[in-house]
Amino acid sequence: MAQRYRDHLPEDFSERSLSEDVRFGLTSSPKTLPPKWFYDKVGSELYEEITRLPEYYPFAAEREILMARATEIVTAAGCRHLVELGSGSSEKTRALIEAVLAATRDGEQAAYRAIDVSGSALRAAAQDLSRRYPTLALESVRADFEHGLADALAVEAGEGRGGRLVIFLGGTIGNQTPEQRRSFLAALRGALAPGDAFLLGADLVKSPDVLVPAYDDAAGVTAAFNLNVLEVVNSRLGADFDATDFRHVAVWDADNAWIEMRLEAVRDVRVRISGLDLDVDFAAGEQMRTEISAKFTRERLAAEFEAAGFAASGWWTDEAGRFSVSLWTLS
Ligand code: SAH
Ligand code: AVI
Repeated sequence: MAQRYRDHLPEDFSERSLSEDVRFGLTSSPKTLPPKWFYDKVGSELYEEITRLPEYYPFAAEREILMARATEIVTAAGCRHLVELGSGSSEKTRALIEAVLAATRDGEQAAYRAIDVSGSALRAAAQDLSRRYPTLALESVRADFEHGLADALAVEAGEGRGGRLVIFLGGTIGNQTPEQRRSFLAALRGALAPGDAFLLGADLVKSPDVLVPAYDDAAGVTAAFNLNVLEVVNSRLGADFDATDFRHVAVWDADNAWIEMRLEAVRDVRVRISGLDLDVDFAAGEQMRTEISAKFTRERLAAEFEAAGFAASGWWTDEAGRFSVSLWTLS
Protein backbone atom coordinates (compact mmCIF):
# COMPACT_ATOMS: atom_id res chain seq x y z
CA MET A 1 0.00 0.00 0.00
CA ALA A 2 1.04 3.62 -0.57
CA GLN A 3 3.62 4.98 1.84
CA ARG A 4 4.66 8.65 1.77
CA TYR A 5 7.11 10.84 3.67
CA ARG A 6 6.66 14.62 3.59
CA ASP A 7 8.84 17.18 5.29
CA HIS A 8 6.89 20.35 6.12
CA LEU A 9 9.79 21.92 7.96
CA PRO A 10 12.27 24.21 6.25
CA GLU A 11 15.81 22.85 5.75
CA ASP A 12 17.16 25.15 8.49
CA PHE A 13 14.21 24.56 10.91
CA SER A 14 16.35 23.13 13.70
CA GLU A 15 18.94 25.87 13.55
CA ARG A 16 16.58 28.83 12.98
CA SER A 17 13.75 27.90 15.31
CA LEU A 18 16.13 26.50 17.95
CA SER A 19 18.22 29.70 17.73
CA GLU A 20 15.15 31.83 18.45
CA ASP A 21 14.06 29.60 21.34
CA VAL A 22 17.55 29.42 22.88
CA ARG A 23 18.23 33.15 22.57
CA PHE A 24 14.85 33.98 24.08
CA GLY A 25 14.88 31.27 26.77
CA LEU A 26 18.46 31.73 27.96
CA THR A 27 18.19 35.50 28.20
CA SER A 28 14.88 35.28 30.15
CA SER A 29 14.65 35.22 33.91
CA PRO A 30 14.18 32.49 35.01
CA LYS A 31 15.87 30.74 32.08
CA THR A 32 13.79 28.26 30.04
CA LEU A 33 14.08 25.91 27.07
CA PRO A 34 11.02 24.45 25.30
CA PRO A 35 10.60 20.63 25.53
CA LYS A 36 10.29 20.20 21.75
CA TRP A 37 14.13 20.14 21.53
CA PHE A 38 14.47 16.99 23.65
CA TYR A 39 13.67 14.81 20.65
CA ASP A 40 16.80 14.40 18.55
CA LYS A 41 17.70 10.76 17.80
CA VAL A 42 19.23 10.17 21.25
CA GLY A 43 16.37 12.01 23.01
CA SER A 44 13.69 10.01 21.15
CA GLU A 45 15.47 6.78 22.16
CA LEU A 46 15.73 7.94 25.79
CA TYR A 47 11.98 8.75 25.80
CA GLU A 48 11.31 5.18 24.57
CA GLU A 49 13.45 3.92 27.45
CA ILE A 50 11.47 6.09 29.91
CA THR A 51 8.23 4.44 28.72
CA ARG A 52 9.60 1.08 29.92
CA LEU A 53 10.59 2.30 33.42
CA PRO A 54 8.63 0.91 36.39
CA GLU A 55 8.08 4.44 37.78
CA TYR A 56 6.75 5.91 34.49
CA TYR A 57 3.10 4.77 34.71
CA PRO A 58 1.55 7.03 31.96
CA PHE A 59 2.65 4.82 29.06
CA ALA A 60 1.38 1.55 30.53
CA ALA A 61 -1.84 3.16 31.80
CA GLU A 62 -2.69 4.68 28.42
CA ARG A 63 -1.82 1.45 26.61
CA GLU A 64 -4.17 -0.44 28.97
CA ILE A 65 -7.03 1.90 28.01
CA LEU A 66 -6.34 1.73 24.27
CA MET A 67 -6.02 -2.07 24.23
CA ALA A 68 -9.32 -2.43 26.09
CA ARG A 69 -11.30 0.30 24.32
CA ALA A 70 -9.96 0.72 20.78
CA THR A 71 -13.00 -0.84 19.06
CA GLU A 72 -15.39 1.22 21.19
CA ILE A 73 -13.43 4.41 20.42
CA VAL A 74 -13.27 3.79 16.66
CA THR A 75 -16.98 2.95 16.59
CA ALA A 76 -17.86 6.10 18.57
CA ALA A 77 -15.70 8.23 16.28
CA GLY A 78 -16.97 6.50 13.12
CA CYS A 79 -13.63 7.05 11.39
CA ARG A 80 -11.47 5.27 8.81
CA HIS A 81 -8.64 7.82 8.79
CA LEU A 82 -6.33 8.34 11.76
CA VAL A 83 -4.08 11.39 12.03
CA GLU A 84 -1.67 11.44 14.98
CA LEU A 85 0.14 14.45 16.45
CA GLY A 86 3.49 13.82 18.18
CA SER A 87 3.28 10.18 17.09
CA GLY A 88 6.79 9.10 18.23
CA SER A 89 7.09 5.31 17.86
CA SER A 90 3.29 4.95 17.19
CA GLU A 91 3.45 1.86 19.41
CA LYS A 92 0.21 2.40 21.39
CA THR A 93 -1.52 3.61 18.25
CA ARG A 94 -1.39 0.08 16.88
CA ALA A 95 -4.50 -0.81 18.91
CA LEU A 96 -6.44 1.97 17.13
CA ILE A 97 -5.00 1.10 13.71
CA GLU A 98 -6.07 -2.52 14.18
CA ALA A 99 -9.59 -1.43 15.20
CA VAL A 100 -9.85 0.81 12.11
CA LEU A 101 -8.62 -2.00 9.83
CA ALA A 102 -11.17 -4.38 11.37
CA ALA A 103 -13.99 -1.85 10.82
CA THR A 104 -13.06 -1.12 7.20
CA ARG A 105 -15.47 -2.57 4.64
CA ASP A 106 -14.80 -3.53 0.99
CA GLY A 107 -14.12 -0.43 -1.07
CA GLU A 108 -13.02 1.62 1.94
CA GLN A 109 -9.41 2.56 2.61
CA ALA A 110 -7.96 2.70 6.13
CA ALA A 111 -5.33 5.41 6.46
CA TYR A 112 -2.87 6.65 9.09
CA ARG A 113 -0.95 9.94 8.98
CA ALA A 114 1.81 10.30 11.59
CA ILE A 115 2.96 13.85 12.38
CA ASP A 116 6.10 14.57 14.43
CA VAL A 117 9.10 16.92 14.54
CA SER A 118 11.42 13.93 14.82
CA GLY A 119 12.39 12.54 11.40
CA SER A 120 14.18 9.57 13.01
CA ALA A 121 11.08 8.59 15.04
CA LEU A 122 8.83 8.94 11.95
CA ARG A 123 11.09 6.77 9.80
CA ALA A 124 11.43 3.99 12.40
CA ALA A 125 7.65 3.95 13.01
CA ALA A 126 6.82 3.88 9.26
CA GLN A 127 9.14 0.94 8.72
CA ASP A 128 7.50 -1.02 11.53
CA LEU A 129 3.91 -0.14 10.54
CA SER A 130 4.30 -0.86 6.82
CA ARG A 131 5.58 -4.34 7.67
CA ARG A 132 2.77 -5.02 10.14
CA TYR A 133 -0.12 -3.52 8.14
CA PRO A 134 0.43 -3.95 4.40
CA THR A 135 -3.10 -2.73 3.51
CA LEU A 136 -2.85 0.54 5.50
CA ALA A 137 -2.27 3.80 3.55
CA LEU A 138 0.58 5.31 5.52
CA GLU A 139 1.84 8.87 5.51
CA SER A 140 4.59 10.42 7.67
CA VAL A 141 4.71 14.19 7.95
CA ARG A 142 7.53 16.04 9.66
CA ALA A 143 5.89 19.16 11.07
CA ASP A 144 5.63 21.31 14.19
CA PHE A 145 2.11 21.10 15.63
CA GLU A 146 2.62 24.36 17.50
CA HIS A 147 3.24 26.38 14.34
CA GLY A 148 2.14 24.33 11.32
CA LEU A 149 -0.99 22.55 12.56
CA ALA A 150 -3.41 23.70 9.83
CA ASP A 151 -0.95 22.66 7.11
CA ALA A 152 -0.16 19.32 8.71
CA LEU A 153 -3.89 18.57 9.07
CA ALA A 154 -4.87 19.85 5.61
CA VAL A 155 -7.18 17.42 3.82
CA GLU A 156 -5.48 15.83 0.80
CA ALA A 157 -7.12 15.34 -2.60
CA GLY A 158 -9.28 12.19 -2.52
CA GLU A 159 -9.41 12.07 1.28
CA GLY A 160 -12.86 13.62 1.68
CA ARG A 161 -13.81 15.85 4.59
CA GLY A 162 -15.09 14.41 7.87
CA GLY A 163 -14.49 10.89 9.18
CA ARG A 164 -11.00 11.66 10.45
CA LEU A 165 -9.90 10.95 14.00
CA VAL A 166 -7.07 13.23 15.08
CA ILE A 167 -5.22 11.67 18.02
CA PHE A 168 -2.83 13.22 20.52
CA LEU A 169 -1.54 10.62 22.97
CA GLY A 170 1.00 10.21 25.74
CA GLY A 171 -0.07 13.26 27.75
CA THR A 172 1.93 15.49 25.39
CA ILE A 173 -0.80 18.17 25.68
CA GLY A 174 0.48 18.60 29.25
CA ASN A 175 3.86 19.74 27.90
CA GLN A 176 2.21 22.92 26.61
CA THR A 177 1.73 25.99 28.78
CA PRO A 178 -1.94 26.98 29.33
CA GLU A 179 -1.56 29.76 26.70
CA GLN A 180 0.00 27.36 24.17
CA ARG A 181 -2.84 24.92 24.87
CA ARG A 182 -5.45 27.60 24.18
CA SER A 183 -3.83 28.48 20.83
CA PHE A 184 -3.42 24.80 19.99
CA LEU A 185 -7.10 24.03 20.68
CA ALA A 186 -8.22 27.07 18.65
CA ALA A 187 -6.03 25.98 15.69
CA LEU A 188 -7.27 22.39 16.02
CA ARG A 189 -10.92 23.52 16.12
CA GLY A 190 -10.33 25.54 12.94
CA ALA A 191 -8.69 22.60 11.13
CA LEU A 192 -11.41 20.02 11.86
CA ALA A 193 -14.55 19.50 9.78
CA PRO A 194 -17.98 18.28 10.93
CA GLY A 195 -17.73 14.48 11.23
CA ASP A 196 -14.10 14.63 12.42
CA ALA A 197 -13.22 13.86 16.05
CA PHE A 198 -10.28 14.37 18.40
CA LEU A 199 -8.92 11.72 20.77
CA LEU A 200 -6.78 12.93 23.66
CA GLY A 201 -4.58 11.05 26.11
CA ALA A 202 -4.14 13.16 29.25
CA ASP A 203 -2.50 12.35 32.56
CA LEU A 204 -4.55 12.89 35.74
CA VAL A 205 -3.72 14.71 38.98
CA LYS A 206 -2.50 12.32 41.68
CA SER A 207 -0.20 12.13 44.68
CA PRO A 208 3.29 13.65 44.29
CA ASP A 209 4.53 10.37 45.79
CA VAL A 210 3.67 8.77 42.44
CA LEU A 211 4.25 11.78 40.19
CA VAL A 212 7.75 12.81 41.28
CA PRO A 213 9.41 9.36 40.88
CA ALA A 214 7.81 9.10 37.41
CA TYR A 215 9.94 12.15 36.47
CA ASP A 216 12.98 11.30 38.62
CA ASP A 217 13.51 7.57 38.21
CA ALA A 218 16.03 5.53 40.18
CA ALA A 219 17.97 4.44 37.07
CA GLY A 220 18.54 8.06 36.01
CA VAL A 221 17.03 7.71 32.52
CA THR A 222 14.86 10.82 32.89
CA ALA A 223 17.92 12.74 34.10
CA ALA A 224 19.80 11.65 30.94
CA PHE A 225 16.77 12.66 28.79
CA ASN A 226 16.70 16.10 30.43
CA LEU A 227 20.48 16.67 30.20
CA ASN A 228 20.52 15.57 26.54
CA VAL A 229 18.89 18.87 25.57
CA LEU A 230 22.25 20.52 26.37
CA GLU A 231 23.91 18.24 23.80
CA VAL A 232 21.28 19.26 21.25
CA VAL A 233 22.19 22.93 21.79
CA ASN A 234 25.91 22.06 21.65
CA SER A 235 25.69 20.15 18.39
CA ARG A 236 23.26 22.45 16.55
CA LEU A 237 24.35 25.86 17.81
CA GLY A 238 28.01 25.27 18.62
CA ALA A 239 27.57 25.73 22.38
CA ASP A 240 30.00 24.39 25.00
CA PHE A 241 27.59 23.17 27.72
CA ASP A 242 29.25 20.55 29.95
CA ALA A 243 26.44 18.25 31.17
CA THR A 244 28.39 17.53 34.38
CA ASP A 245 27.90 21.20 35.36
CA PHE A 246 24.14 20.55 35.71
CA ARG A 247 21.84 18.22 37.59
CA HIS A 248 18.30 17.03 36.83
CA VAL A 249 15.49 18.31 39.09
CA ALA A 250 11.79 17.31 39.04
CA VAL A 251 9.29 19.15 41.27
CA TRP A 252 5.51 19.02 41.66
CA ASP A 253 3.94 22.48 41.42
CA ALA A 254 0.61 21.96 43.18
CA ASP A 255 -0.73 25.45 42.37
CA ASN A 256 -0.34 24.92 38.63
CA ALA A 257 -0.97 21.15 38.83
CA TRP A 258 2.14 20.35 36.82
CA ILE A 259 5.48 18.61 37.16
CA GLU A 260 8.33 20.90 36.30
CA MET A 261 11.64 19.50 35.02
CA ARG A 262 14.62 21.76 35.48
CA LEU A 263 18.39 21.70 35.05
CA GLU A 264 20.26 23.16 38.02
CA ALA A 265 23.80 24.54 37.74
CA VAL A 266 25.97 22.77 40.33
CA ARG A 267 28.61 25.56 40.20
CA ASP A 268 28.99 28.97 38.59
CA VAL A 269 29.03 28.30 34.85
CA ARG A 270 29.66 30.46 31.77
CA VAL A 271 28.47 28.92 28.49
CA ARG A 272 29.56 30.15 25.07
CA ILE A 273 26.95 29.66 22.31
CA SER A 274 29.05 30.48 19.26
CA GLY A 275 26.18 30.02 16.76
CA LEU A 276 24.38 32.88 18.52
CA ASP A 277 27.49 34.86 19.47
CA LEU A 278 26.13 34.74 23.01
CA ASP A 279 27.65 34.07 26.46
CA VAL A 280 25.26 32.93 29.18
CA ASP A 281 26.06 32.87 32.91
CA PHE A 282 24.48 30.47 35.38
CA ALA A 283 25.01 31.07 39.11
CA ALA A 284 25.56 27.97 41.27
CA GLY A 285 22.08 26.67 42.23
CA GLU A 286 20.31 28.51 39.41
CA GLN A 287 17.57 26.44 37.77
CA MET A 288 16.48 26.50 34.13
CA ARG A 289 12.99 25.13 33.28
CA THR A 290 13.09 22.55 30.47
CA GLU A 291 9.58 21.04 30.63
CA ILE A 292 6.21 21.27 32.30
CA SER A 293 4.01 18.18 32.36
CA ALA A 294 0.53 19.28 33.41
CA LYS A 295 -1.86 16.86 35.06
CA PHE A 296 -5.62 17.27 34.59
CA THR A 297 -9.02 16.58 36.07
CA ARG A 298 -12.02 15.65 33.93
CA GLU A 299 -13.69 18.95 34.86
CA ARG A 300 -10.69 21.05 33.84
CA LEU A 301 -10.36 19.32 30.46
CA ALA A 302 -14.11 19.72 29.83
CA ALA A 303 -13.98 23.43 30.66
CA GLU A 304 -11.01 24.04 28.33
CA PHE A 305 -12.43 21.99 25.45
CA GLU A 306 -15.92 23.46 25.76
CA ALA A 307 -14.45 26.97 25.74
CA ALA A 308 -12.63 26.04 22.52
CA GLY A 309 -15.82 24.81 20.76
CA PHE A 310 -15.69 21.06 21.44
CA ALA A 311 -18.28 18.73 23.00
CA ALA A 312 -17.41 15.70 25.16
CA SER A 313 -18.14 12.39 23.38
CA GLY A 314 -16.33 9.79 25.47
CA TRP A 315 -14.21 9.33 28.61
CA TRP A 316 -12.15 6.31 29.60
CA THR A 317 -9.54 5.67 32.31
CA ASP A 318 -7.32 2.73 33.25
CA GLU A 319 -8.51 0.48 36.11
CA ALA A 320 -6.41 2.38 38.65
CA GLY A 321 -7.75 5.78 37.44
CA ARG A 322 -4.29 7.20 36.71
CA PHE A 323 -4.66 8.30 33.08
CA SER A 324 -7.51 9.38 30.78
CA VAL A 325 -8.39 8.98 27.12
CA SER A 326 -11.21 11.26 25.96
CA LEU A 327 -13.08 11.84 22.71
CA TRP A 328 -14.18 15.30 21.54
CA THR A 329 -16.38 16.36 18.62
CA LEU A 330 -17.24 19.81 17.30
CA SER A 331 -20.01 21.58 19.22
N1 SAH B 1 2.75 9.78 21.24
C1 SAH B 1 3.90 9.02 21.71
C2 SAH B 1 5.15 9.89 21.86
C3 SAH B 1 5.09 10.94 22.95
S1 SAH B 1 6.67 11.75 23.14
C4 SAH B 1 3.54 8.34 23.01
O1 SAH B 1 2.44 8.53 23.48
O2 SAH B 1 4.37 7.60 23.54
C5 SAH B 1 6.28 13.32 22.42
C6 SAH B 1 6.41 13.27 20.90
O3 SAH B 1 5.96 14.53 20.40
C7 SAH B 1 7.85 13.09 20.42
O4 SAH B 1 7.90 12.11 19.41
C8 SAH B 1 8.23 14.48 19.90
O5 SAH B 1 9.17 14.41 18.82
C9 SAH B 1 6.89 15.04 19.47
N2 SAH B 1 6.81 16.50 19.54
C10 SAH B 1 7.11 17.29 20.60
N3 SAH B 1 6.85 18.59 20.31
C11 SAH B 1 6.37 18.60 19.02
C12 SAH B 1 5.92 19.63 18.15
N4 SAH B 1 5.92 20.89 18.54
N5 SAH B 1 5.48 19.28 16.91
C13 SAH B 1 5.48 17.96 16.51
N6 SAH B 1 5.90 16.95 17.29
C14 SAH B 1 6.34 17.27 18.53
C1 AVI C 1 5.92 13.29 26.03
N1 AVI C 1 5.52 13.75 27.37
C2 AVI C 1 4.09 13.58 27.55
C3 AVI C 1 6.31 13.16 28.45
C4 AVI C 1 5.73 13.60 29.82
O1 AVI C 1 5.47 12.71 30.62
O2 AVI C 1 5.49 14.79 30.03
C5 AVI C 1 7.76 13.56 28.34
C6 AVI C 1 8.55 13.14 29.52
N2 AVI C 1 9.25 13.94 30.28
C7 AVI C 1 9.83 13.24 31.24
N3 AVI C 1 9.46 11.99 31.12
C8 AVI C 1 8.69 11.88 30.05
